[in-house]
Amino acid sequence: MTFAVCPGSFDPVTNGHLDVFARAAALFEQVTVAVLINKTKSSLFSVEERIDMLREVVAPYPNVVVDSFHGLLVDYCRDHDIAVIVKGLRAVSDFDYELQMAQMNHRLTGTETLFVSTNPLYSYLSSSLVKEVATYGGDVSGLVPDILLTRLKERVDQVGL
Ligand code: PNS
Repeated sequence: MTFAVCPGSFDPVTNGHLDVFARAAALFEQVTVAVLINKTKSSLFSVEERIDMLREVVAPYPNVVVDSFHGLLVDYCRDHDIAVIVKGLRAVSDFDYELQMAQMNHRLTGTETLFVSTNPLYSYLSSSLVKEVATYGGDVSGLVPDILLTRLKERVDQVGL
């Protein structure tokens, strides 16, 4: 069995992430969507909320599970028999840092990284932009899963500008 991981902050998960999960699910027997626990970074949604939202949106994919991790991604991979990290590449601007991380992760434990080219529909999309647009009242429908739209609006209204 080859296991893969799609790591990230997912604050919140976007349709671009979902596209990567679906494509990874078609390639690997099991895919873990792993949410980074990063206590030094402020977030719109707590890790538990992000996990709940991710579980809802990956429900149609029986071989996708959701978990969280802290520390090094390669340690999480080793502890869970995960051989491959799957990432989406949106544009050249992603490439430099993603390549560095892929090379470092390979250097540390030999874990491979597989890049899938982001669907061009979502090449400009990021969680940060979604948060910014939603915060100022912009329409983010079609950019995040529909079942999250209300939750996102409620949260940005709560947090305020
Ligand atoms: O969605 P993000 O915040 O861009 O995801 C970044 C993430 C979680 C994939 C990356 O920061 C990561 O793997 N962090 C875990 C710590 C780690 O392993 N650092 C060394 C990377 S070479």
